Amino acid sequence: MPRFERLRELVSGLDPEHVYRTIYDENLCPVINGTEPLDPQGLDDFRKVDFSGKNVVDLGCNFGFFAFEARRLGAASVLAVDRAEKVLEGACMLKSIFGMDGVDFLGCDIETPDNCLAGRTFDVAMLVEFIGKTFVRQGFIPATLAFLEQLSHKELVVSVQKTYMIRKELGSTVEEMRRHYPEAYLQGGDVLVLEYVRDFFKDRWNIEMLSDLCDGYEKPRKFLRMYR
Ligand SMILES: C[S@@+](CC[C@H](N)C(=O)[O-])C[C@H]1O[C@@H](n2cnc3c(N)ncnc32)[C@H](O)[C@@H]1O
Repeated sequence: MPRFERLRELVSGLDPEHVYRTIYDENLCPVINGTEPLDPQGLDDFRKVDFSGKNVVDLGCNFGFFAFEARRLGAASVLAVDRAEKVLEGACMLKSIFGMDGVDFLGCDIETPDNCLAGRTFDVAMLVEFIGKTFVRQGFIPATLAFLEQLSHKELVVSVQKTYMIRKELGSTVEEMRRHYPEAYLQGGDVLVLEYVRDFFKDRWNIEMLSDLCDGYEKPRKFLRMYR
């Protein structure tokens, strides 16, 4: 049986919205298209993190792209969690196709109080492309960042889109966004998400921008590393 056939079968039975990240083989050749192909610059930025010998947790791992990558970059172990059980079944198939140890997948809804990660800590806690339109629109960012922060006292890796257009991308209004964000983060019809995330951490963490920033709107996610 061809290597990816069982995985293809599983993916074909999933709602396309659950297949977020395009699935790649070990050589970064696309195997199954997702809604979001990899941004090569984002991958280069992620690869600036020194994972050697570290225990890592990856929140909202989907098919585990960044969990596998952290392990390839030298992480001692990676615990990758997602609430979509079928997706995790696919991630486990990929793990066995890659013959990779040191990456474990666990079903976990991080919005549930006392979930399976509560009270655990890791060297690195990652939240990659987790914060999307719905999270921004519904004002879920601070609760998610606060949960991430509980999972490591040493290092956090986060990626976010720099800004969101309130009407065009979020389908919302400035008045609605004022319920969730201070005025300083609402400018020119946009929510300044990257600035919000930076300011959330800046009093307790050192912050390194792993991605370069240009002026104006940029869609590709930007990576930040918080460390102590
Ligand atoms: C946008 S995808 C990001 C995937 C992955 N980090 C990447 O960049 O390839 C978000 C993932 O988070 C998962 N997710 C969303 N809410 C969650 C929750 N409350 N607990 C655990 N996983 C969640 C979704 O099932 C989805 O697989």
